[in-house]
Amino acid sequence: MPHNVIFSDLALELRDKAREIAEKHVRPNAAKFDKAQEYNHEAMQAVAEAGLLKTWIPKEYGGVGAGVLALAMVTEELARADSGFGVAFAVNALGSFPIVLGGTEEQKSKWLPLVAEGKKLCAFCLSEKGAGSDAGGLAVRAEQEGGKDGDWIIRGEKKWTTNGGVADIYTVFCVTDPTSKSRRISAILVEKGTDGFTIGKVEDKMGIRTVPVVETHFDGVRVPHANLLGGRAGMGFKHAMMTLDHARPGVAAQGVGAAQGSLELATVYANKRIQFGKPISSFQMVQEMLANMAMKTQAARWLVYSCAAAVDAGEQNITKNAAIAKCFATDAAMEVATDAVQIFGGYGFMEDYPIAKCFRDAKILQIYEGTNQVQRLVIARNLIKESEQ
Ligand code: CAA
Repeated sequence: MPHNVIFSDLALELRDKAREIAEKHVRPNAAKFDKAQEYNHEAMQAVAEAGLLKTWIPKEYGGVGAGVLALAMVTEELARADSGFGVAFAVNALGSFPIVLGGTEEQKSKWLPLVAEGKKLCAFCLSEKGAGSDAGGLAVRAEQEGGKDGDWIIRGEKKWTTNGGVADIYTVFCVTDPTSKSRRISAILVEKGTDGFTIGKVEDKMGIRTVPVVETHFDGVRVPHANLLGGRAGMGFKHAMMTLDHARPGVAAQGVGAAQGSLELATVYANKRIQFGKPISSFQMVQEMLANMAMKTQAARWLVYSCAAAVDAGEQNITKNAAIAKCFATDAAMEVATDAVQIFGGYGFMEDYPIAKCFRDAKILQIYEGTNQVQRLVIARNLIKESEQ
């Protein structure tokens, strides 16, 4: 079937722009920035100028409203060149989806056009030292001063804030009612530069070294009531879960891009590497590995696209399929990267070739935005719930 039967012209245009930027600005710098653990500001500037940060932002707020499928396609292209850059891009969606999905009209009009223009990059502050998989077990506290429209004062520390330091808007999940079970948490928007808000430890990571992951510290950070997401306290856990449902196809797409990148490197290498007088690609055991890698990558890609298309079509119950896509595609990425290293043999274990980076980068995909154990738990819970209906 021709591609434009499935994808909108806009989605294909955005994907092509992403591919061009990935080849021109991302791939050539990936090894250097990985070693130095540096962020590629120039490539993100190119992404903003090409309008790629408008992808998931609705038209009425300065975006192009191309949806989650286009977001997945763009992310895939960027991650194919460098997984770290893929996530640096995708976290802008993760950090701004709470506004898209749960913000007041005023919040959407104020912040989303700035995100779409690339004037404000985003981060998502959910995880803490003691709250990773247990997203409801947060300790960061926000208290309101001076009545129902008063400011909120935030105290505590967040962990694993991706894009921390480069981002301008931080969606911070805080405990606002410790006595409540189901309305304990609220999301509050905090701007870079607000008094008392600082970046703590910058993590020294195994992979995705081209995107910063940091601790964020909130030492009596005062923000106006207007920054309380949705204007109503107690909605934070729901906002977090709804956001993750929409963002997980994007992480899954990072997995597809990472798998595709590893597959391409392994295929080119297998064609060049001569052993026993022949390219190793002529040996059936290597061919079997390449074929399996291609099948996993392709299966993951279409799973992700179908899940993302269902979100765009307005399907209501997206939780299970988003978890299936995230889990399958990121497991595929790790498996494909592992086999790719195997095809490179001893050279694959060395940092002289780009495949070692692909392998290091792939691991986090099975851990962040919900471990793949949490995804399986979500899938199983939903299956059981459906069987009871
Ligand atoms: N959409 C809307 N509401 C939802 C929901 C969803 N998908 N899932 C749950 N809820 C609601 C429930 O209906 C329930 O509401 P009520 O109290 O009104 O009944 C409430 O939320 C609590 O739900 P659960 O009882 O299912 O919650 P739980 O404590 O058992 O946790 C969990 C469920 C799935 C394990 C969840 O904690 C989770 O997803 N954990 C993983 C967290 C995660 O993904 N962290 C990643 C951080 S971001 C990151 O990594 C980004 C990065 O840097 C790149």
